[in-house]
This record gives sequence, C-alpha cells and structure tokens, in this order.
Amino acid sequence: MSKTDLFDPVSFNGLTLKNRIALSPLTRARATQDGKAGDLQAAYYSQRAGAGLLITEATAVTPGGRGGPMLPGLWEDDQIAGWKEVTDAVHAKDGLIFSQLWHAGRLSHSSLSADGRTPPVSPSEYSQPGEIFTEQGPKPYEPIHVMTTADIKGMIGAYEAAATRAKKAGFDGIELHAAHSYLISAFLNDMTNQRDDEYGGSIENRARFLKEILEACLKVWDGKRIMVRLAPLAHAYGTWDTDPEPLFNHVIDMMNELGIGWLDLVEGDTGVTRTPEPYFDVLKLRTRFKGPTILNNLYTRDMAVDARAKNTGDIIAFGRPFIGNPDLVERLKANAELHEAPLNAYYGGGARGYTDFPTMEEA
Ligand SMILES: Cc1cc2nc3c(=O)[nH]c(=O)nc-3n(C[C@H](O)[C@H](O)[C@H](O)COP(=O)(O)O)c2cc1C
Repeated sequence: MSKTDLFDPVSFNGLTLKNRIALSPLTRARATQDGKAGDLQAAYYSQRAGAGLLITEATAVTPGGRGGPMLPGLWEDDQIAGWKEVTDAVHAKDGLIFSQLWHAGRLSHSSLSADGRTPPVSPSEYSQPGEIFTEQGPKPYEPIHVMTTADIKGMIGAYEAAATRAKKAGFDGIELHAAHSYLISAFLNDMTNQRDDEYGGSIENRARFLKEILEACLKVWDGKRIMVRLAPLAHAYGTWDTDPEPLFNHVIDMMNELGIGWLDLVEGDTGVTRTPEPYFDVLKLRTRFKGPTILNNLYTRDMAVDARAKNTGDIIAFGRPFIGNPDLVERLKANAELHEAPLNAYYGGGARGYTDFPTMEEA
C-alpha cells in the first residue's frame, strides 16, 4: 500500500478528527413515528464512530419537512433527548458528529405535516411526477403550496430553532442539506425556482434563502461549526440547475463571506455517476472555498487514497459502504473486503440490517 494520510488524525476549525474519513449522511428511516431518535440510533452511530467525522441522516426542521415516514426531526424540544443519547454515545468513542438539518420541500406529503393535511411547500409550482412513500403506502406527489414571503421567514425561523436544539443535543456542528432538490436546493436551482420576487430570478436572489438560513444559524453556532452540503451536478428527482458553475461559485463566495467552516461537496449525480451533463469541474469549488472540503460520491478505497495523494479534497465521505461495514475505516486500512448490505436494509425496520452488521473481528 502506498503511504497515505487518509488514516492519520487531522485538525480543522479547532476540531481534531481521528482520520480523514467521514460518514456521509444516510437516511435509514428507523426513528419513531413522531420523529425521535433514541438508543437504536445511538448504537448505530457509535458503531461507526471510527470515522473522523459523522454526519447524521437528514433531520427535519418541521414535521412537513420529512420526505417519508419514520424519519427523525429536531422540530420540537422533545426530540432533543434522543439525539443527546446519540451524541453521548459517539463522544464516548472520541467521535465527532454533525446534525444534518433538512426540509424536503415539495418532496413531502400532507400526511406527514403536523395536522396531517397541510400541503408540501416549494419556491414555485413544480409538479413532481411519481409517488412518495407515506405511512399509508405509496401515494402520488401532491399539488404544492407556493411559499409566501411570510412562509419563507417562518421557515428560516424553523431552521434557527432546529439549529438551537442541535446544540442542546450536544452535536459538534450542523450541516445544512442544500442538495438533491429538497427545499434549499429547490430555491437554488433555476428549474425549480421560477419566482419573480427577491427569492427568485438572479443567482443572488435564488441563493438568498440559503444565505438567510445561514445568517440565522450563525446566531446560534460559530461559523466554524457550520457545514453546507452541495451537489451542484445532481439530477435528483429529475431536476438540476441549467448553468451550475456561476450559481455555485456565488454560493461558495457567500459561504466564505459569512465565515462558514465546512463544505460537503457531492461530485456528480449522487450515487449514479461522477460526470453528468451539464458538467463542470466541481473541484474548482474546493479551491475557491476557504475551509476544509469533504468530497463524496461513489468513492472506493483506491479513489480516496488517490484523492489525498493529489489533495483534491480534505476528507472523503463514504455513504453506502458504511451501511454494511460499521468498522469501515478499519477495513479500508487493512484493505479488507467490504460487505455489501442488501438494498432492502437501507430504509425502515429495526435493528435488523441496521446495527447487526458484524465488524471484521466479529465476522
Ligand atoms: C440509503 C441512503 C440514504 C441517504 N440519505 C441521505 C441523507 O439523508 N442526506 C443526504 O444528504 N444524502 C443522503 N444520501 C446520499 C449519500 O450521503 C451519498 O451522497 C451517496 O450515497 C453517494 O455516496 P456513496 O457512493 O459513498 O454511497 C443517501 C444515500 C443512500 C444510499
């Protein structure tokens, strides 16, 4: 094995990571019906605390921000204690964990909202084809409610409140999910944002929602503890931005100006390809960004070693490989074979397919 610093400790923004490997955010749909994490999630994340940095699954800032059942939230104080169990368990293993704050936007369903009948929200009319999985099984996506300025301000408040709860729950930082056609990304991308007010049209206007959320979170967290996840080339849910380079250059400049500490950069179309069209070299964003950059998407061990040798990114995040390999870092270090988790283990269920994958030693 060529010498690599992938497994060496490293410090960024005042935090010391055990190594340069991160757990990419993975929705696993095993929270309670009312969006609480607990001992099951504590076991799952602590098993994966060998990673230098853990990023949680998408955690909704409002009930209607969930994109499916059994997904966790931080929209109310009662949800803090369960996440505190998680952060305590990770910290007991000298791990670091950020909470990924999220709103699914139009990719939700009224049955998931607080009163069970409030329609999903979006920056603009954009009818989503296909079906969403709800507590009552698959249902067609519904007509959405186009957010008013008051709705937007209220949503920024929901992000700030969730960021405050994340702090109370003992997280080391927060990540804003600004990718994959969910609410923030739906504002950023021209395909899903056709507003003609101050939140739509120009790049600056489309980025305003993210900017105001960041400003609200900065009231609660030091910028060094805030990360933004961007997937500039993702085609999630059949949507993207038609001219992504200037848009994401602007977003990075904005993050630099606000003193945001971390960038989580998905290269390409998430989980699908690293080179979709329209394409630009997203690694240029890493150079533009002043803080550490986490790279993700379809990485193998060799690619991660190569990325560090070429210094194309600071940390490499693995998603799916962590599902079936709780001790992924050890396995990568040993260049051992990886276990492939069955697809039906990804979402939903209990401990099975979640916390019962053995480590190399146990196997
Ligand atoms: C089961 C599953 C759940 C995911 N959940 C999230 C999520 O909650 N938030 C997010 O930003 N990305 C999510 N992703 C995307 C992953 O973080 C990652 O970007 C993707 O799997 C590509 O990395 P990989 O090739 O290492 O798996 C999910 C992916 C999978 C397979």
